[in-house]
Amino acid sequence: MSTPGGLIRLDVHLTDADADAALRTDVARGLVARPKELPPKWFYDARGSELFERITELPEYYPFRTERALLADSVADIARSSGADTVVELGSGSSTKTRLLLDAFSGAGTLTRYVPQDVSESALRGAIDVLHRDYPELVVHGVVGDFTTDLDRLPGADPGGKRMIAFLGGTVGNLLPGPRHEFLTHVRSVLAPGEQLLLGTGLVTDPAVMVPAYDDAAGVTAEFNRNVLLVLNRELGANFDINAFSHVAVWEAEHEWIEMRLRAVRDLHVSVRALDLDVSFLAGEEMVTEISAKFRPEVIDEMVTAAGFVPSRRWTDPDDRFALSLVTAV
Ligand code: SAH
Ligand code: TRP
Repeated sequence: MSTPGGLIRLDVHLTDADADAALRTDVARGLVARPKELPPKWFYDARGSELFERITELPEYYPFRTERALLADSVADIARSSGADTVVELGSGSSTKTRLLLDAFSGAGTLTRYVPQDVSESALRGAIDVLHRDYPELVVHGVVGDFTTDLDRLPGADPGGKRMIAFLGGTVGNLLPGPRHEFLTHVRSVLAPGEQLLLGTGLVTDPAVMVPAYDDAAGVTAEFNRNVLLVLNRELGANFDINAFSHVAVWEAEHEWIEMRLRAVRDLHVSVRALDLDVSFLAGEEMVTEISAKFRPEVIDEMVTAAGFVPSRRWTDPDDRFALSLVTAV
């Protein structure tokens, strides 16, 4: 959908047919891999996006509030030093924290356009509606797309203008090291020299703090993790008994990431009708559903430098749990 000439627009770069084909490929590969695995983008149907919003409100989930506090402290500086007229945000979800950025950039008088991109159309539609209401002067151009494949189709800079890409929430840590490097290199390649990336990353901290953020007492994260099985049941006619899987979150010290898994509590046979695929799980078998890598400041600098950026500024919270890095394309 798009309303040409209007201030609000939503482009779908990832159609239902594209998503269906990608889901089939991922599931056909992931369920026969050893260990079995499912890529995390399939968590985020409408229910998954709602559950993620509930995660951000949990007492254990410190990344959200820590990044929000960092943004509150840094947005005035970012807006002053950036001069961007377009803020593009990847994996924008509900765009809640982004409002701090939009306020500061509006205050600096430069902002004309906000381009949120997310794989979740429901989250994006909800975000766009409230943003349009609250920022009536701003062009809000939503893009339903996959940031691992659809970056080339993001809107370019306005003539004489400059963009800043925001990638918040520590979502870069949900990519494995190889794909993460490819992703950052790709982000760099769609930017012109001088344009910037604002990157939010969780930092390596005490496992006693990190693990509960991904395994909360109320069980919301467990429900979020199991939601991916409901997506497979609905979209591919699978017959996962979601009660037969328990949520596991562990700190993998050698990789410095939290790994989330679903563990079969008993022997199971599952069939995925749309793929004509039957798979078995042994009691105790674990399927990897997501990693959330945590970083050290020097590793962030290495990672962005390897992708063609120069680190400009960094903000970290007093407990060193989260970092916001502003880096510039060279
Ligand atoms: N930026 C928000 C949300 C983070 S959760 C915050 O900081 O709170 C991760 C978001 O990335 C979700 O909204 C999810 O729908 C989106 N997402 C996950 N994989 C994606 C992909 N491959 N392409 C685009 N968006 C993706
Ligand atoms: N980008 C978020 C993170 O790594 C995503 C997330 C938070 C998440 N909690 C989760 C993903 C639980 C899966 C399960 O912090």
